[in-house]
Order: sequence, then structure tokens, then C-alpha cells
Amino acid sequence: MAETLLDFSQVRAQFPILEQTENGHPLVYLDGGATSQKPLQVIEAIDTYYRKQNANVHRGVYGLSERATELYEGAREISRGFLNARSTKEIVFVRGTTEAINLVAHSWGRMNLQAGDEVIVTEMEHHSNIVPWQLLRDQLGIRLTVLRMNDLGEVCMNALKGLVSEKTKLLAVTHMSNALGTINPVKEMAEIAHSVGAKVLVDGAQATPHMQVDVQDLDCDFYALSGHKMYGPTGIGVLYAKEALLEVMPPYQGGGDMIYSVTFEKTEYNVLPYKFEAGTPNIAGAIGLGAAMQFMQSIGLDRIAAYEAELLAYATERLKEIEGVRIIGEAENKGGVISFVLEGVHPHDMATLMDQDGLAVRASHHCAMPVMQHFKVPATIRASLGVYNNREDIDRLVASILDAKEMLL
Ligand SMILES: Cc1ncc(COP(=O)(O)O)c(C=O)c1O
Repeated sequence: MAETLLDFSQVRAQFPILEQTENGHPLVYLDGGATSQKPLQVIEAIDTYYRKQNANVHRGVYGLSERATELYEGAREISRGFLNARSTKEIVFVRGTTEAINLVAHSWGRMNLQAGDEVIVTEMEHHSNIVPWQLLRDQLGIRLTVLRMNDLGEVCMNALKGLVSEKTKLLAVTHMSNALGTINPVKEMAEIAHSVGAKVLVDGAQATPHMQVDVQDLDCDFYALSGHKMYGPTGIGVLYAKEALLEVMPPYQGGGDMIYSVTFEKTEYNVLPYKFEAGTPNIAGAIGLGAAMQFMQSIGLDRIAAYEAELLAYATERLKEIEGVRIIGEAENKGGVISFVLEGVHPHDMATLMDQDGLAVRASHHCAMPVMQHFKVPATIRASLGVYNNREDIDRLVASILDAKEMLL
């Protein structure tokens, strides 16, 4: 049983929101891909911060501000360790993955890209790793090239080798697809991109909740994550970037904290990473994110991955038993996301009925419309797994699909 891989009842008890009912049924939350639920450790860290520790950071000489600064910078050190970055100078707090990618596009992109240069993205990217590059394409005249995937939802390394050239300046790739669950071989992809001198940006929004990430091992140049998808609060995320790149990149936003000195003639910027953190940051968010990372580490990242792999295998097997269910995304290497459609039923109708059974699943294009176009579906239903889900949740999912099928077909 998957549950023996971790102390499930102890883990589950950390999520008070899951104790409630929805439409008269115990809530089954299967939408961590959109945003995860939060454990007590995170809720309490934020609560304690606002009750006892709240002050602005890097500014006051009084004790409270010094303690808030220590906690905020402590969260940066936790993030560094979580990603195995070399230095806290490489950890920039941002709003989330979307802002991290936009920061790279605006700062690094505008400085380094010119007409004719190429950015490669995969066909399975989230819109937040497509649109920022399209904006640059329209403004700078760069080319946006798409690495296609097969019908299992996998990209091909030989196809990537064939695409890259001296014109390729950036490969922007998701570590794990939110719409398909595919885990991309980003280390191997980075090697291919680096062989032509391109930089590599990895969108880690979906990977960080499910697996151990080591940015030094991946050798990526940029790595983006969102706190709210990995048991942390909304409005906080991390952009990891190699120090040498951040050192020469221009600031993304101007304002307080990101400067060393200002006159009307000239402004000297602050040291890393503060050069990229203009204005009062999301202090409580960073502290909550640190608590979320520690929560994951206390279970063990490898144990989380193993537990979810077992649960995903169970969910896949059970869904395949239902006639008319088509799983979208059958890559060999998948994380805890399962997307599917039921023949003859619109995903939105199905998810509405499932809500009546107390299930929270997502029916949508998942901000990955090109994936929907590839598989010729308007949307899918997505069940995304977390440490608080178990086989019982999957059984409820299956029962609800069968009910909906009976009602709608
Ligand atoms: C793969 C992927 N990238 C990026 C994002 C954007 O994350 P956020 O909305 O937290 O900025 C998401 C969110 O769903 C995602 O799944």
C-alpha cells in the first residue's frame, strides 16, 4: 500500500481544510496542480509572523525589524538549500513562476536577444512560458521555435538536437507539464542547449511540489517556482539564476530596497539578490514558503515522489478500467497529474457533477491551450495529487466518474 511509504494519517492531519464537507460529502481535493492545500506548519508560521513578528525588513534598527529580516533571510537560505543553489545571492523572491519568467524575459531577454535570435519552447508549456517570449518576439523580432511532442506527451531529444543552432539563445522548458504530468529530461535538454551556447530556463512550478530538484545537477541557468503549488502561500515564489547572470542583468523593477544610492543624476543598484527585489517584499509569504519547504523536507522529497508515483499508478489503472475514458498524457516519466476526457461528455459538465460528489478537480485547458490543440480536445479533467491524497480519494474519483457517466450518457 502506498500509504505505508509515509505516515499518511499523520500527514493528512496537517491539513485542516480537508476536514470539511462539500455538498454533503467529505471533501476530496484533487486540484493541487492549480494550488495545493496548506499544512498547519505553514498556516502557523504566517499567523505567528503577523501576531508577533511583523515589521518591514532591511530597514529598521529596532529588534522587531531585525527579527523580521532574520526570518525573511532565513527563508531565502531554506530556499537555497531546497534547490541546492550555491548561494543565497542566486535566490530572488518573486510573486511566483509567472513573475519569475517575466523577470527573465524583461531583464535578461532585452539585454541579450536581438532580431533573428531564437528562443525554443516545448509544445507542452504553460502560457506563462509562452506569452512572455511572444511579447519579446513582437517587440524585438526574435524567433519563437516550438519543440513538438509525440502523442504520449513526450519531447524527443534528437528533435531538440536537430533544432538548436548558433541562433538559439534560450531553451525555455517546463520541468513537469501541468496538463499532462510529463516530466521532461531537463538535465539532458540543458546539455543540448548549452552545446550551442544557449541558456536554459526551467519552469519548475509543477515539479517542485513532487520531486527533489537540484539546480546545480540540472545545470540550468534559471529555475522558477511558485510557493502556492508546493504547500506554501500564494503570492510568493523563487527565481533561481546563476550568480554570474544576475550580476550583469539589469533590474526588472525600480524602487526602494533595490538601490544602494540615488541622486537625480545616477542610481547605484544594490547587491544581489536585492537588485531584483524592489519595494516591500511579501515577507509573510517568504516565511510561509520556507515553512512549506521544511514541511516537505520533513517528510522527505524522495518519499513524496515514491508515494505519489504509487498513487498515480493506482489512479491510472483504475481510470483505464472505465470504458470511454481517454487519458491525455501517457509519458513514461510522469508526476502526480492525471488528465483525461470521457468520450461524449464535456469536461466542464463532468466536473460540475463531480463537485456535487464533493470532489475538487479541474476541468479546463489548464493554461496550456497548445496541448489541447495537439490532442484535439477543448479541455480535460485533471486530477492532481498531493501528499494528502490516498487511494480512497482515487476510489471516490472513479465512483464519481461512473455516476456522471450514467447521468450524462
Ligand atoms: C507548469 C506551470 N508553469 C507556470 C505556472 C504559473 O504559475 P503561477 O500562476 O503560480 O505564476 C503554472 C500554474 O499553473 C504551471 O502549472
